[in-house]
Amino acid sequence: MGQFAERIFVVTGANSGVGKSAARSLATRGARVIMVCRSRERGETALDEVRRQTGNDRLQLRVADLAELDQVRQLGGGLAEELDHLDGLVNNAGVVRTKRELTVDGFERTMATNHLAHFLLTALLLDRLEAAGGRVVNVSSQAHRSGKLERAPLEAIMRGDIRYRGLQAYSHSKLANVLFSNELARRGAGAITSNALHPGVLATHIWNQNKTFGSLVAAAFKPLMGSPDVGGRATARLAADARLSSVSGGYFDGERQVEPASDALDRDLARRLWQTSAELTGVAE
Ligand SMILES: NC(=O)c1ccc[n+]([C@@H]2O[C@H](COP(=O)([O-])OP(=O)(O)OC[C@H]3O[C@@H](n4cnc5c(N)ncnc54)[C@H](OP(=O)(O)O)[C@@H]3O)[C@@H](O)[C@H]2O)c1
Repeated sequence: MGQFAERIFVVTGANSGVGKSAARSLATRGARVIMVCRSRERGETALDEVRRQTGNDRLQLRVADLAELDQVRQLGGGLAEELDHLDGLVNNAGVVRTKRELTVDGFERTMATNHLAHFLLTALLLDRLEAAGGRVVNVSSQAHRSGKLERAPLEAIMRGDIRYRGLQAYSHSKLANVLFSNELARRGAGAITSNALHPGVLATHIWNQNKTFGSLVAAAFKPLMGSPDVGGRATARLAADARLSSVSGGYFDGERQVEPASDALDRDLARRLWQTSAELTGVAE
């Protein structure tokens, strides 16, 4: 454990799949882990499980529905008040929706949850991350390779004002994760690090979020999918492994650093995505 007892990590979507596994991996090392979950009940069950498995009694639960910007503001504001430093922020929570839905803020739900919420949460915690030379880990996906954010104005994509296809919307949001990760790495150079990863193709609840999509995928691919722990370990490694302390702006497939799609390396697109996200979430540039 040693110096890990001083370390604080925040993991979103920590009650299930990759997030729960990453939280467990960080808790095993003795860190204080703040698990952000949308349901108090599912969060408490997961926290009890991780506490039992790791013997770590420094786990905390924060409840927030990340699809609502006000809840993200409350979460980020509360954490910023409570913590004087933050060693790692794992932006992991994610959804795939087969049908177009708008959030209370008028954003397309996949983009709002997977990208805008994490953009805002990171902004609210940035000075606490800087105080620790902290790391941001953005859980993206191979699906970012099918994302196209040049097809329409960025605000139209965020607001769902384009023809909706669930997997395409998911891919757009996962491309946004890598672009955000890279832009954050540039803006935070020297003060924090930021990396993105594809955690693997894993048997988690994400495939069951939509009945039709989930049952089709489950039937075809579930036997071939890896354990959530493969992704959880790779995520925790990026957040905490000493050998990666100065790696920033990278994209990882599991534990291997690889090239992301060329769109993910487009600096102008990353800058415009940052500006649009800042305007839509009320973050000062
Ligand atoms: N599984 C894969 O094969 C795979 C592949 C590539 C990338 N990924 C990425 O891995 C990440 C984790 O997904 P997973 O596979 O571990 O799926 P999962 O088991 O479904 O976990 C997703 C987590 O996100 C949470 N979440 C969803 N919407 C939320 C909201 N509005 N507010 C707060 N939390 C919310 C879920 O909470 P609830 O339990 O309350 O829904 C859950 O804890 C995602 O970003 C996903 O894109 C997964």
